[in-house]
Amino acid sequence: MKILILVTILFTIKMSNSSCYWNENCHYKQFSSKTPYEFVRGDIRDSVVMKPGCKTISLWGLVRHGKRNPGENFVYKMLDATLLKDYIKTSHEKGDGIMCAQDVDNLSNWIIDEDTFHNVHQIAKEGYEEMAGLGHRFSAVFKDLLISTDEKNYTLRSAYGHWLENSAKGFIQGIGNESLVIDKPHKTYDIIAPYESCNYYMKGVKQNPEIYKEPTKYQDMTEFLAVKEGIQKRTGINYTLTNENITSLYDLCRYTSSGTHKKLSPWCALFTTEDIKVLEYIGDLRHYYRNSYGTPVNKIFGRIPLTDLLETFIKAKNGKGNLFTIYFTHATMMDMVYTALGLFKDEVPLTAEFRNDTRKWRSSKSSAFASNLMVTLNRCIDGDETDYNVVFYLNERPLDLICNNGECSWREFEEILKPFVNTTLDFC
Ligand SMILES: *[C@@H]1O[C@H](CO)[C@@H](O)[C@H](O)[C@H]1NC(C)=O
Ligand SMILES: *[C@@H]1O[C@H](CO)[C@@H](O)[C@H](O)[C@H]1NC(C)=O
Ligand SMILES: *[C@@H]1O[C@H](CO)[C@@H](O)[C@H](O)[C@H]1NC(C)=O
Ligand SMILES: *[C@@H]1O[C@H](CO)[C@@H](O)[C@H](O)[C@H]1NC(C)=O
Ligand SMILES: *[C@@H]1O[C@H](CO)[C@@H](O)[C@H](O)[C@H]1NC(C)=O
Ligand SMILES: *[C@@H]1O[C@H](CO)[C@@H](O)[C@H](O)[C@H]1NC(C)=O
Ligand SMILES: *[C@@H]1O[C@H](CO)[C@@H](O)[C@H](O)[C@H]1NC(C)=O
Repeated sequence: MKILILVTILFTIKMSNSSCYWNENCHYKQFSSKTPYEFVRGDIRDSVVMKPGCKTISLWGLVRHGKRNPGENFVYKMLDATLLKDYIKTSHEKGDGIMCAQDVDNLSNWIIDEDTFHNVHQIAKEGYEEMAGLGHRFSAVFKDLLISTDEKNYTLRSAYGHWLENSAKGFIQGIGNESLVIDKPHKTYDIIAPYESCNYYMKGVKQNPEIYKEPTKYQDMTEFLAVKEGIQKRTGINYTLTNENITSLYDLCRYTSSGTHKKLSPWCALFTTEDIKVLEYIGDLRHYYRNSYGTPVNKIFGRIPLTDLLETFIKAKNGKGNLFTIYFTHATMMDMVYTALGLFKDEVPLTAEFRNDTRKWRSSKSSAFASNLMVTLNRCIDGDETDYNVVFYLNERPLDLICNNGECSWREFEEILKPFVNTTLDFC
C-alpha cells in the first residue's frame, strides 16, 4: 500500500513537471483569423431548424474563403524562422532550454510542405477541403435547393481574388455538381466587398497606422513581453527575439497545423496556452479596429450585403427569387456584417491595457477560415395559413444571438434589416 502511494506521488510529480505539447490532451486551438474551420464548426446536418409544415424555399450565405497560404511578405519571414528548427535541436542537445524531448524530435522531423510555402497566397489544399465539406453538408440538408435546379435561379459568386474563386469551386465540388455556374467576380465594385473600392476606407482605415495603435501598444505590455521571454527560455535561444520573429513562429504554428487532418504543428510546442491566447488577442484587436466596432464607419459596409439578403428573400417570398445565393468573401466583410447586426459587441471596447478573457469579440470563431453566415427562408403551411420565418446560422449552428435562438418571424427579420436598405457609400 505504502509503495503504491509512493509510486502514485512520484508519478504525479513527474506528470505535473512535464508540460509537453505532444501528449497534452486539450490544446488551445484558436488562432485568430488563421483558425482551421474544423476547430470551430458545428454541423448543419445536426443543427438545422425545421418545424413541421415548413419548407426552406431560399438559402442565402456569406462565406469566408477556405484556408489560404501565407502571402509573400510573411512567407519569407516564416522561411527565415524555420532555421530555428536546427538551433533548437542543438540547444536541446547541449542541455539548454526546457522543451520536452519528443517535442524537439517532432520539430526536428518537421519538413517544409511545398504547397504552403510555394503557392503564395493561393487557397491551400485544406482550404479546398474546408469548402468541399461545407458544400457537401449543406447539400445533404438542402437537397431540393442545391441539387435539383435545372434553371439558373441561383447565384454563386466570389469577390475578386483567385483564392476566393477557388473557394467557390471547392464548394460546388462538395455539392457534387460541378456544372453549377459560378458568376464572374466583379472587379471594380461588389456588394460583397464594397470597402475595397472605397478610398476613405482603404487609406483612412486599412492602411492607417493609427488603426493599429492598440495591437502595437499591446506588444509592449508585460503580458506580451512574457511570451517572448518564455519562448527564449523554452527553446534556449540566447539572443533577443524580435516581435517579427514571434509572429513568424506563430504563423509557422498556425499555418502548418491542419484541422481537416486533425494534426497540430510541432511549431506550436514553442508556445504555452497562455502564449496562444495573447497572440490571439493581437488578432482580435486588429480585427476590432480595422473591421469592426473600433472604427464607426465599418458597420456601414456591413449593411450592403444585408440589404441584398432582404431583397433576395422578399423576391423568393413572392415566388421569383433565387433558390440559393452564396457569396465567397473576405474576413473583413464577415466582420463588417457582424458589426452591422450588432453581434459580439462588448460593453467595454477592446484595448491594449486589458485582455478580457470573456470578451465577445473573437476573431478565432467569427473569422476562422471558411467561417460562414447562412440564412434560410422557410415557408410554413398550417391549414389555409401560409407563414414565413427566417433562420440564421453561424458556422453551422443556429445563431442564438438573433431573435429566438436564431429563428426570426418574417416581421422580426424585416425589422432588423429594413433600416439598412437606403445605405449609401457617398463618403467614399
Ligand atoms: C509528435 O510525436 C508524437 C509521438 O510520435 C505524436 O503523438 C504527436 O502527434 C506528434 N505531433 C505533435 C504536434 O505533437
Ligand atoms: C528575426 O527578426 C529579424 C528582424 O526583426 C530578422 O532579421 C531575423 O532574420 C529573424 N530571425 C529569424 C530566425 O527568423
Ligand atoms: C447539375 O447542375 C446543372 C446546372 O444547374 C443541372 O442542369 C443538373 O441537373 C444538375 N445535375 C444534378 C445531378 O443534379
Ligand atoms: C549562443 O548560442 C550559439 C549557438 O549555440 C553559440 O554559437 C553562441 O556562442 C551563443 N552566444 C552567446 C552570447 O552565448
Ligand atoms: C427555379 O427553377 C425551377 C426549375 O425550372 C422551378 O421549378 C422553380 O420554381 C424555380 N424557383 C424559383 C424560386 O423561381
Ligand atoms: C469582459 O467582457 C464581458 C463581455 O463583454 C463583459 O460582460 C465583462 O464585463 C468584461 N469584463 C471586464 C472586466 O471588463
Ligand atoms: C428608402 O428610400 C425610399 C425612397 O426614397 C423611401 O421610400 C423609404 O422609406 C426609405 N427606407 C428607409 C428604411 O429609410
